[in-house]
Amino acid sequence: MSIEKLRATALSIADLREMAREHLPRGIFEYVARGSDEDRSLGGNARAFDEIDLVPRVVRDVSEPNTSCKLFGEPCAAPIAVSPTGFASLLWLDGEVGSARAAARAGIPFALSTGSITPMEQIRAEVDGQLWLQLYVWPQREMTRELIARARRARYEALIITVDTPVAPFRPYNLKNGFSIPFKISSRNFWDIVTHPRWLYGVVFRRYLKSGPMVAENYPEQLRVPVSAAKPGKFNLPFCDNVSWDDIREFRRLWDGPLILKGILHPEDAARAVEAGCDGIIVSNHGGRNLDSAIAPIRMLPEIAERVGHKTTVLLDSGISRGSDIVKALALGAHAVMVGKATLFGVGAGGEAGAQRALEILVDELVRVMTNSGVKDLGSISAGLLRLSHEFARTMLELNPEAAQTMASTNAVSARL
Ligand SMILES: Cc1cc2nc3c(=O)[nH]c(=O)nc-3n(C[C@H](O)[C@H](O)[C@H](O)COP(=O)(O)O)c2cc1C
Repeated sequence: MSIEKLRATALSIADLREMAREHLPRGIFEYVARGSDEDRSLGGNARAFDEIDLVPRVVRDVSEPNTSCKLFGEPCAAPIAVSPTGFASLLWLDGEVGSARAAARAGIPFALSTGSITPMEQIRAEVDGQLWLQLYVWPQREMTRELIARARRARYEALIITVDTPVAPFRPYNLKNGFSIPFKISSRNFWDIVTHPRWLYGVVFRRYLKSGPMVAENYPEQLRVPVSAAKPGKFNLPFCDNVSWDDIREFRRLWDGPLILKGILHPEDAARAVEAGCDGIIVSNHGGRNLDSAIAPIRMLPEIAERVGHKTTVLLDSGISRGSDIVKALALGAHAVMVGKATLFGVGAGGEAGAQRALEILVDELVRVMTNSGVKDLGSISAGLLRLSHEFARTMLELNPEAAQTMASTNAVSARL
């Protein structure tokens, strides 16, 4: 699909989501769009942003708005990075290369998941932009060490270690609709697949003809088996339920670029990440995909930012679907946001052009919200722009009276307390 066509038809991330829903088999769409268990955190992420209002300032010069910033010393056109998401190439042929290229075109970093189908070296060769690599700590630590060395050889700029998945998440909808990794055609998903011939031909057949079966190419060699042929437990490396701060300190020693810990929700863990030598943290509940009922990260952000924001780069993801969400996150202390589903909906709707359109929508909205709010650069976005709903403010007051007081001094919460 061309970018011109997408510009005419997809005017919001919600439009791209709808287009992806039409293109993809239900099992795959739900794998992307839903959360875990009862989708409580998924809904909670969106609700938390809804509980924050903007209070615009007027009669200000907002000509020539500027969204540029620096992340880990590198210039970015906007305070956005693409979150790591496994298996994007199941949504569109070469989905991972496409979204990495779209990020490069938008002038923002792209984080590649270890669970991606495209080898990290190929992405590096085909993409002229900032690339970060995400990994999970594996029980076999030597495999993790080797992956870190491989990322260094492939010239990835930053390393993200995801620490919020000690056990496999429970996604009952995927058990019901027959989507699983390893991927097998079964009576549960047969009809779903054959009624999506555009996806079947455009993604599965074309991929097979081009490069053979899909394999998680970044996994250690002994585990690199086709997505469809693996035996349960073989393809998915076991989750690691005993990651320690010593592990993080060791990875710090092995990796000399920016090290980012992903999946932080508690201020104490944020402080420990800084002590362990991390250059950044991602305040995240994994997009509501892991621990159901995990608090929306935006609710913890003020407290975490107050604790470590002056010492480390604070990124936030989970629930960003509009430019206004980005302004809210920056106003509450994030240096930048990351987006997972928003870009994936773009990939599912139109491959590289779809990812490009998703990022374009977010940046256009960011600029529009900034100028309509009376700010023309990121440094002018502050908590003074916000009013928090009673519910949001009350949670904050209960969790951390100190952060609430700081916010109150900027007027963001006082009106509702
Ligand atoms: C389909 C899908 C796959 C994901 N795979 C990974 C992964 O391999 N590693 C990881 O750290 N996070 C993964 N995530 C979580 C994202 O990195 C990110 O935290 C989340 O999507 C942010 O929330 P949002 O989708 O509301 O933007 C995945 C998310 C989705 C939607």
